[in-house]
Amino acid sequence: MISVQDEFQRLATLRKELGDANKQYYVLDQPHITDAEYDALMQELLNLEAKHPDWVTPDSPSQRVGGEVAKEYTKVRHLEPLLSLDNAFDQADLREFDRRVRQGAPTVSYVVELKIDGLTVALTYEEGLMVRGATRGDGSVGEDITANVRTVGSIPLRLNKAVPRLSVRGEGYMPKASFARLNQEREEEGQSTFANPRNAAAGSLRQLNSKITAQRKLDYFAYQVLSANELGLHNQMEVLNYLKEQGFIVNPEYKVFSDIEEVITYCEEMAGERHRFPYDIDGLVIKVNEFDLQQELGFTAKSPRWAISYKFPAEQVETVIEDIIIRVGRTGVLTPTAVLKAVSVAGSTVSRATLHNLDNIREKDIRIGDHVLLHKAGDVIPEVVRVLAEKRKGEETLFEMPGLCPECKSPVLREEGEAAYRCQSIICPAQQREGIIHFVSRDAMAIDGLGPAVIQQLLEAELIKDAADLYSLTFDDLIPLERMGKKSAENLLKAIENSKERGLAPLIFALGIRHTGEKAGKILAQTFGSMEKLMGATLEDLQAIPDIGPAMAESLVQFFKLESTERFLAKLSEAGVNMTEEISTKPQIFAGKSIVVTGSLKRWERREIEALIEECGGKAASSVSKKTAFVIAGEKAGSKLVKAQGLGIPILTEEEFDILLK
Ligand code: IVH
Repeated sequence: MISVQDEFQRLATLRKELGDANKQYYVLDQPHITDAEYDALMQELLNLEAKHPDWVTPDSPSQRVGGEVAKEYTKVRHLEPLLSLDNAFDQADLREFDRRVRQGAPTVSYVVELKIDGLTVALTYEEGLMVRGATRGDGSVGEDITANVRTVGSIPLRLNKAVPRLSVRGEGYMPKASFARLNQEREEEGQSTFANPRNAAAGSLRQLNSKITAQRKLDYFAYQVLSANELGLHNQMEVLNYLKEQGFIVNPEYKVFSDIEEVITYCEEMAGERHRFPYDIDGLVIKVNEFDLQQELGFTAKSPRWAISYKFPAEQVETVIEDIIIRVGRTGVLTPTAVLKAVSVAGSTVSRATLHNLDNIREKDIRIGDHVLLHKAGDVIPEVVRVLAEKRKGEETLFEMPGLCPECKSPVLREEGEAAYRCQSIICPAQQREGIIHFVSRDAMAIDGLGPAVIQQLLEAELIKDAADLYSLTFDDLIPLERMGKKSAENLLKAIENSKERGLAPLIFALGIRHTGEKAGKILAQTFGSMEKLMGATLEDLQAIPDIGPAMAESLVQFFKLESTERFLAKLSEAGVNMTEEISTKPQIFAGKSIVVTGSLKRWERREIEALIEECGGKAASSVSKKTAFVIAGEKAGSKLVKAQGLGIPILTEEEFDILLK
């Protein structure tokens, strides 16, 4: 039997392990446990905390998963206003800045940092604990986004060394890779896309639902502390070191110079390298290093005199839209894509640019034959900024969305409330090709060596019609393919074979069901334990699962109703693809059910009965709601029992519950 002391000790261990794992992952970039192990530890912690709500602390790693949903943001007044910086656009501006600095401070050194293109986030720590995160707002009053800030893995919830109070400022941002992935997902779902990582980061940090923020993979670089003098810090270099010691991520690219000419050389060098970082930067920030000199220089009304931001020249190039073609994605969304006269922009040659959707084309009045300005959104996604209307000759043509899918000639429809037009066919070859690309992708069935080009060849040679056919490919099928050697064919077959044991969660994700992402795959796999059970789930079963929203529940039911789904899954099953999740031997009688235990029990320890519920596929929840399947009430049950009675939820005694188990 597990005592409360044991539980408390376990709680401490879990927090330590999760905290360490988090640090390894986000701060040191060296994960030492797998995602699955992390998830399992987190689930154990969440269960323990659900059982002992008064043990939850604000620095518990559980606070990073999000969950708090706000109606609106509370305003917070900043201790000291957040100022903006003056801009320098060229060498002359930088020399002028240096001249003014040296009038007040003849011997000076400069710290040059990257200017991260995100949004300022001000953090407050009290007695070592993160108590508040706020946006910049108008500089004096910002918005309290504490719940969202907690979900950012690289922001410490507790400082390494407690001090009575610490105010930290830095940049919240979205890495380029997260931005590209997010926009792709949104495009596939028919949602509007973000223009750049800064907007995506701002939108994510200002989410009212912190669960959404948690999924957005944000990051943070710290660069400033308030009242640095009181902490015994005398210059910016010491601040950066101090921030590192306290557990923050400081951007490692900073440099110190004593001469403005060196600063200028460095700025120009970095302008040429701006695209090599995994996050967007829009310039450099040059700061007087010494705080006593900073103080002497002081501030203008808007900005400090001791710092300036050097803005990189905007990278926009002119090109011509030669044509607008349609790409059909996995979910049938038709994406208009510009075929461009090839140009070099932000480090690569570009000949295609997504035009997102018809609304965007109309808004920017883009026509075939137009001269346009092109840039890379978030340094990655080629995008038309605007049309150079003055260059029109009158020969440009308007683009219209086709009424039929260009790949399968099925009707195309625009659903209400969506920006996207979709091909209505479920056997559209483009959707199938994209579906197979998704099926084999890393977070899905993880079949290495099977890129889009190979898939295209397999489809064209009619060696496969769908992803399930991959499992009947032979060495002789593969060897005639272009650029397929003996070794790569063998490796590919091995990868296909290995994918059979990927397990249920990635398989559910691989199916590419609308609204059903990787995380949903895990939840569904844990709830149902097998594809068969999942297929048999009713809308009510699915809606009863926490974290499964109504849109997902609906699309799951629709998906599993299809005859084509049934056939596809049967093929996978025949091929020997494992469609179960490692589960306990107990029958999953509570699959997808949320069950609340309250009062004191005689037969079981609280932890035991909760484990039983979970082994049988249920979720031991801590509070009663409409979604609660039933309540097990022991002696001295209180408010939860009353609430369940009020909602008409079935109430079981321990004995009755025991009978259910038999
Ligand atoms: S220092 C008073 N350092 O750029 C000094 N700012 O206009 C305050 N930014 O809104 C700023 N990287 O959000 C500083 N290394 C960096 C920065 C940085 C990005 C942003 C910051 C601010 C804007 C400056």
